[in-house]
Amino acid sequence: MNNQAKKDGQLSSIRDFILWGERRFIDAEIFFGHGTDNALDESAALVLKTVDQPYDLDEEALDIKLSEEQKEEVIALVEKRIEERQPAAYLIGEALFAGLPYYVDERVLVPRSPIAELILEHFSPWIAADKVSRILDLCTGSGCIAIACSHAFPDAAVDAVDLSADALDVCRINIERHNKTDKVKAIESDLFESLADQRYDVIVSNPPYVCTAEWEALPEEFHHEPGMGFKGGESGLDLVDTILSEASSHLNPNGILVVEVGSSAETLLEKYPMVPFCWLEFEFGGDGVFLLTAEQLVASQPYFKKMSR
Ligand SMILES: C[S@@+](CC[C@H](N)C(=O)[O-])C[C@H]1O[C@@H](n2cnc3c(N)ncnc32)[C@H](O)[C@@H]1O
Repeated sequence: MNNQAKKDGQLSSIRDFILWGERRFIDAEIFFGHGTDNALDESAALVLKTVDQPYDLDEEALDIKLSEEQKEEVIALVEKRIEERQPAAYLIGEALFAGLPYYVDERVLVPRSPIAELILEHFSPWIAADKVSRILDLCTGSGCIAIACSHAFPDAAVDAVDLSADALDVCRINIERHNKTDKVKAIESDLFESLADQRYDVIVSNPPYVCTAEWEALPEEFHHEPGMGFKGGESGLDLVDTILSEASSHLNPNGILVVEVGSSAETLLEKYPMVPFCWLEFEFGGDGVFLLTAEQLVASQPYFKKMSR
């Protein structure tokens, strides 16, 4: 079906356009992995946001007809998604994380960390919620983890750190959007460098952890995202090494460190065989996230000191 036929009425409802987009995405063999994992969800996200409807729209409302302007907009976005291989989140300027919407553009990675699930569970059973008064999100990007933590622990003060001034501009947009200016602070810092001797109950991080060879081989969609969000050096562990060796100086005695290392989990285990990493499990998918207590970090210092930059 050509674009004129679509505009002339062969497609008219939200449902029609979602199903048409799904078919186009399947035929074009685009890559999913930026918040959705299939063509139907990707198409639904694009269409629903364009027609200003909620993602949990009920069945009947799918019969709502699109205006001519909306039809053109949806068609253009679907074609752009295919031709330019941009993640849908950048095209609509929004991504969901832990059930809430975040503004995103090409200055930040599209939020998709499984850490969302841990936050919604208040990091239970690893720390008691009433003992959490300070949280650090290292490598915050859009601020999604920091802000989701603030929603989960409304009384806690949250520091959101990134080295990229561009990413922090996006983070500040989201802090405002979520009315968290009094609770979440965006800080420009190379990991812990500008944090002096501050200590936290929870340090959580989704740092760059992709090794150079793997980054180069990633599908085109990933190359629209900032390289700085992925690149963890030759081994993938450049930043993780520093986080491991310095985190204990910034954790309170009963604190926890939670870090996503994704595909670099195996390399990490080979490098630190003596460290008692606890690998967390996820009901809704994802892996490669470890947890260490402050006590375990202190005890493992001899292994980290030898390895860090
Ligand atoms: C994988 S992204 C994670 C973004 C966000 N936390 C999320 O989960 O969607 C990693 C982030 O680390 C930031 N980053 C890279 N090197 C850094 C460093 N040395 N210190 C602090 N942040 C850094 C990047 O700018 C990027 O925003």
